[in-house]
Amino acid sequence: MDQEKRGQWASNFGFLMAAIGSAVGLGNIWGFPYKMGANGGFAFLIIYLILVTFVGVATMLGELALGRKYGMGVVGTYRLISKKYTWIGWLGFLSGFFILAFYSVLGGYTLRYTIGFLLELFSKGSGFGGMGGGQFFGSFIVNSGANVLYHFLFMGLTILIVMGGVSGGIEKFTKVAMPALFVMLLIVIVRSLTLEGSFSGVEFMFAPNFAAFSEIGFMKVLKTAAGQMFFSLSLGMGCMITYGSYLSKEENLEKNAVIIPVADTIFALLAGLAVMPAVGAFMSQGVEGINFTAGPGLLFITLHQVFSVGMGGVIGNLFGALFYFLVFIAAITSAISLLEVCTAYFIDKRIEKGLDPSRKKVTLVTGLAIFALGLLVCLDGLGSGVGGGAVIDPPGVMLGMENIRAAFASWLDFYDMISEGVFMPLGALIMALIIGWSLKTTVIKDEVEASPNVLMKSYQFWDICYKFIVPIGMFFVLLGQLDDFFGLGIF
Ligand code: PHE
Repeated sequence: MDQEKRGQWASNFGFLMAAIGSAVGLGNIWGFPYKMGANGGFAFLIIYLILVTFVGVATMLGELALGRKYGMGVVGTYRLISKKYTWIGWLGFLSGFFILAFYSVLGGYTLRYTIGFLLELFSKGSGFGGMGGGQFFGSFIVNSGANVLYHFLFMGLTILIVMGGVSGGIEKFTKVAMPALFVMLLIVIVRSLTLEGSFSGVEFMFAPNFAAFSEIGFMKVLKTAAGQMFFSLSLGMGCMITYGSYLSKEENLEKNAVIIPVADTIFALLAGLAVMPAVGAFMSQGVEGINFTAGPGLLFITLHQVFSVGMGGVIGNLFGALFYFLVFIAAITSAISLLEVCTAYFIDKRIEKGLDPSRKKVTLVTGLAIFALGLLVCLDGLGSGVGGGAVIDPPGVMLGMENIRAAFASWLDFYDMISEGVFMPLGALIMALIIGWSLKTTVIKDEVEASPNVLMKSYQFWDICYKFIVPIGMFFVLLGQLDDFFGLGIF
């Protein structure tokens, strides 16, 4: 494969920013804080860290190494391993397609909220129509026109960056965006921690509550941590295979495979410190609509209240705009990697046929197809359906699955079930089995040691991970996801 035509990272730092950018996303800022708080705080963190160490890092290394070895995107990589595995590559490709279709709609929300708070700065009521967090969100999700518009904007920006190429677009953008994200996060943390009563938020997130294991059930906590871990690290769908395929043989894979998960975890914890203390502060001051137990409502309902009512005034609007912009940056650097997985397939194919890669055209067409798929998510009012004021029915109603399980409650849930629920854990599970039992773990060792002067440090450890720990871990994640989406009641 002609690596020059495919593109390469200009530096290891650039690669790291792109990969960490992929990992750090809505999962970190939205999911992690409330899941950690609700599942035992520090006790949850310990389980999370164990999972990252024994399942996450090995999967990360496996993906990066396979990508670099075969020098192709996810479909090409599995095909080169063996024709009989090509379908696993397709699971990855399709996951990218489906995740981005809903991720972009949510990314559009972050754009809408950023603009909303900016408008509020200039004239009160112009950003959110004078509505509170819950009310605004309720009206926004059934406003199909607005949903489509912001989905379009978010997808358009993602396409533009990916069009620029690996080093000229993705790397150039993430190299600036990720450090900026870090700084913005620190600013919000300082504000959040210096609010009166903020400590209750720190406590909610970090206080070790081992009783949660017996109250919620240890297996449930484990399941939540495992699902969160692999989604947050962008594993199981070939993102890291694709990004690894642009990495030069000079760079140390083993080191990179540790740095990315460490950075992702630090960002998740920082996001918690930015968010939960502010929630705690205004909850203890009795501000309406603010509490720890909002769950998924945290990002777009509770935090809206935090900035608009809790902090209020100019400061509230400024921090609101800053915060949602930061979330937007986190989301778009993830979206870029999702689009790149799909784009890379077509580019590889064209190069194989001896054609020009035509990155711009390929990216545009792929991106527009994903945009179209996302329209269903924009139009069903997140499951509130026709009666709820949206344009089309959620899949449960449309497909006649009236005994709605979570998987069919909305198009977003449906796409999420296909990708995060089934394809991704299955992909990661089979990848580990291929590495551990079919190719044998030496394939990873050889690729790591293909770099000049690099010897693999922990071969025995990785060997056990691929053969046993990751397959068992991912099988468990798969069960956990099916349990969640279809309400099977296993855990
Ligand atoms: N890791 C991203 C997040 O935490 C989501 C993602 C998953 C991105 C898979 C790419 C691939 O939001």
